[in-house]
Amino acid sequence: MPVDEGLALYGVAAEAAARTGLPLLEVGTYCGRSTILLADAARRAGVVALTVDHHRGSEEQQPGWEYHDTSLVDPEVGRMDTLPRFRRTLHAAGLEDHVIALVGRSPQVAAVWGTPLGLVFIDGGHTDEHATGDYEGWTPHLAPGGLLVVHDVFPDPADGGQAPYRVYLRALAEGFVEVSVTGSLRVLRRG
Ligand SMILES: C[S@@+](CC[C@H](N)C(=O)[O-])C[C@H]1O[C@@H](n2cnc3c(N)ncnc32)[C@H](O)[C@@H]1O
Repeated sequence: MPVDEGLALYGVAAEAAARTGLPLLEVGTYCGRSTILLADAARRAGVVALTVDHHRGSEEQQPGWEYHDTSLVDPEVGRMDTLPRFRRTLHAAGLEDHVIALVGRSPQVAAVWGTPLGLVFIDGGHTDEHATGDYEGWTPHLAPGGLLVVHDVFPDPADGGQAPYRVYLRALAEGFVEVSVTGSLRVLRRG
């Protein structure tokens, strides 16, 4: 995530946490880069950041693909495991007390979730199946006035995959109102 997008995420997370007093939720922890932004915003407002990931990596992070990092493979299991690196990131940032890590598949966690959320940040799998599942699973838990943040929104297919863009268009069609645009980061408010 570029610095300008990270700063924008931090700004809206701080605003949503202070205004709603509700937890902030991220789909797509990976190694924790964006989680520490949500965690510090949550810390300042006295709420908690939640982050969901199965920690096995997205399609593009698997062996042979563009974003594969061999150092993130568990040699015993032979699969990606980003959880240890994520925990080190959080520890180094001194933010462990402000984050609840939910390890599992996003739709399964969303299906058993029961607490209203002040912000939902979608940055998980980038296929239509996964991005749509994240949208359908988590936006019902967003409180009125809560913020929906979608990463990797590219209106031009030449710039990137279209699944997050389709989620963004669907959110607008379903009544969300655009708050800001920073690079590929779109912020929308629930009416
Ligand atoms: C693009 S990375 C997240 C990057 C992170 N937000 C950051 O800024 O550093 C996407 C993550 O989503 C996770 N993921 C993909 N599909 C998922 C699903 N259905 N349930 C849970 N996690 C998923 C992958 O394991 C991967 O770690």
